[in-house]
Amino acid sequence: MVVTPWEVKGKVDYDRLIKEFGTQPLTPELLARVQKHTDKIHLQLDRKIFFSHRDLDTVLNLYERGIEFVLYTGRGPSGPVHIGHLIPWIFTLHIQQTFKSRLYFQITDDEKYLISDQRDLNETVKWSYENALDLIALGFKPHDTFIIYDTKDIDLLYDISLEVAKRITYSTARSTFGFQDSTNIGWIYWPAIQAAPCFIHKKLTGENVPALIPAAIDQDPYWRITRDVAQKLGYYKPAQIHCRFLPGLGTGGKMSASMPETSIFTMDPPELVKKKIWNAFTGGKGTVAEQRKSGGDPSVCSIFQYYFFLFEEDSTKLAEREHKCRAGEMLCGECKKDIAEKLNCFLEQHRERREKAKDIIEQYHIKR
Ligand code: TYM
Repeated sequence: MVVTPWEVKGKVDYDRLIKEFGTQPLTPELLARVQKHTDKIHLQLDRKIFFSHRDLDTVLNLYERGIEFVLYTGRGPSGPVHIGHLIPWIFTLHIQQTFKSRLYFQITDDEKYLISDQRDLNETVKWSYENALDLIALGFKPHDTFIIYDTKDIDLLYDISLEVAKRITYSTARSTFGFQDSTNIGWIYWPAIQAAPCFIHKKLTGENVPALIPAAIDQDPYWRITRDVAQKLGYYKPAQIHCRFLPGLGTGGKMSASMPETSIFTMDPPELVKKKIWNAFTGGKGTVAEQRKSGGDPSVCSIFQYYFFLFEEDSTKLAEREHKCRAGEMLCGECKKDIAEKLNCFLEQHRERREKAKDIIEQYHIKR
């Protein structure tokens, strides 16, 4: 298993990541505390898609004493958005609506330029715009959502990144991120730029409040180094809530833009979605007769994960689907047909909202 901000490979063992990264599991007690503030526990918490955290309890303690928090998350614009990216953003929207929190959303066109030999800056800047449309399409509102485009807004981040960078040694950065002698020096400085939005709220408003970061667990190394320096700089340590990866349509790993044939992008046309789903890896057997007799295995099936993560909110119906698969009563063809329809319906609506976002995108750009 490899899990870094730039690469996820193999079968991800989430319990092992909690230990290795030194995070905390999301316990039933903590979930009950979150639930006190919401009508209904969000599906992604209920199903342990968000499974780990740092300092969520501290953020809740402060909130219950009247100290609000801001949300912070982001996107590295290396290409089109896939449905895996939407997982933490959908959850962020839920937390924002529940706690009435301001969201800072960083689009790291500089990061994606620095880490790839092939990509040029015009390309990542173009994807910044395209990816911001996907974020807005999910329903975020401009009055409390502030998008930071790194190359346009570096003036807002630079002084904070300097404060952070000065307090992190090369040795710490190397052991956290695996930098090599051949790593370019832009990349080596860059983690300080991802740290900066954790603290930007104070600079913009004068209020010192904690930031809560919903993201998949691959981003955690950034927060480890940021948390080490936060208090020295007079800020709260940024808190995190980590989600699992939506898998790709193959075996193992995560849905990743670098494997387009096993990823569903928001701009994929319906026929392509159907084709990708049709070729997906499932827990089915070699022949219909065999599957009718001994059933399928939803625990290894990529399609079942899509119902679990996004497309079957009703847990009773999800359990029924699982049961029918194991009993050989529902075959892969039927399951694939259903998910392709659900996906295409979701994507069609998403694309309509994405189109409308073009008229209002400027309203989300962070103001000075
Ligand atoms: P990026 O563009 O790689 O990913 C954007 C967000 O999507 C999450 N993610 C996934 N979640 C579930 N399933 C998947 N298959 C999947 N693939 C990616 C990532 O964890 C991330 O939350 N450096 C960052 C951009 C960034 C950022 C941040 C992210 C800047 N500031 C603060 C989170 C929080 C990046 O390249 O993300």
